[in-house]
Amino acid sequence: MNSIVELKNVSKSYGPVLSLKPINLKIGGNEIVGLIGDNGAGKSTLIKLITGLESPTLGEIFIKGKRIDLNQYSVKISQQLGIETVYQKLSLCEKQPLWRNFFAGRPITNAFGLINVKKQRKITAEIMKSTIGFRSEGINVDTQVSFLSGGERQGVAIGRAMYFESDLIILDEPTVALAISEVEKVLRFVNNIKNKGKSCIFIEHNIHHVHEISDRIIVLDRGELVLNCQKQSIEINDLIQLLKELHFRKKNKTNLHKGI
Ligand SMILES: Nc1ncnc2c1ncn2[C@@H]1O[C@H](COP(=O)(O)OP(=O)(O)O)[C@@H](O)[C@H]1O
Ligand SMILES: [Mg+2]
Repeated sequence: MNSIVELKNVSKSYGPVLSLKPINLKIGGNEIVGLIGDNGAGKSTLIKLITGLESPTLGEIFIKGKRIDLNQYSVKISQQLGIETVYQKLSLCEKQPLWRNFFAGRPITNAFGLINVKKQRKITAEIMKSTIGFRSEGINVDTQVSFLSGGERQGVAIGRAMYFESDLIILDEPTVALAISEVEKVLRFVNNIKNKGKSCIFIEHNIHHVHEISDRIIVLDRGELVLNCQKQSIEINDLIQLLKELHFRKKNKTNLHKGI
């Protein structure tokens, strides 16, 4: 089977800054890939290239085996090809009920171009229950987003991405600033992505969460892919040690520059 996404020698420079050194990477079907790296490591840059928000300086991108024309590539095209990103700052409408939020920007309309409210409500209810597994009582399709907890909001965004037939859902630090009980919800939502046969790139600071949930772990360090391995082949303590060493090296290098 083809990978969902394949990067071949993809790199990105912003002026003189090489944000991403030439990278080779495949994201397969039905796998959760945890992406780790310090601030400035190039994680967001990598995601922007995959989703068409930015163009690589060099290299090739293949989606489901098809080479992408990078001059034409855009977020819209990546969505059409089945790639959705859930950003940290969720684009949900606080004052709107869930059933409107699920379809914001992509409403289901009838022959007259009017929103098919009944259908949107029905599908929203299905997604909440079966796709993302909302368990909170008292939350239904009419609940306003402003009443939802942080983890539940992530769930709505993930559910929305899944409804639109995405094959790959990219989550950019979905658990940042969430209480522990909320983090558990998000991890459950991510597990559901896997259970539904889809793939996920999960950017996360907390190594324990990444290790718990990922099939494969990749680590970026100053624009370089320094680790790409199946989770079973790395113990969590070794992963923590590696990240410490990378962090230490970075600090030393910075100090050298400063003449310390
Ligand atoms: N638009 C940009 N212009 C210039 N430099 C950028 C731009 N975007 C990112 N960078 C630089 O690229 C590097 C990687 O950034 P980024 O991908 O945002 O890292 P991360 O998401 O891992 O924190 C950083 O050094 C950052 O300053
Ligand atoms: Mg970032």
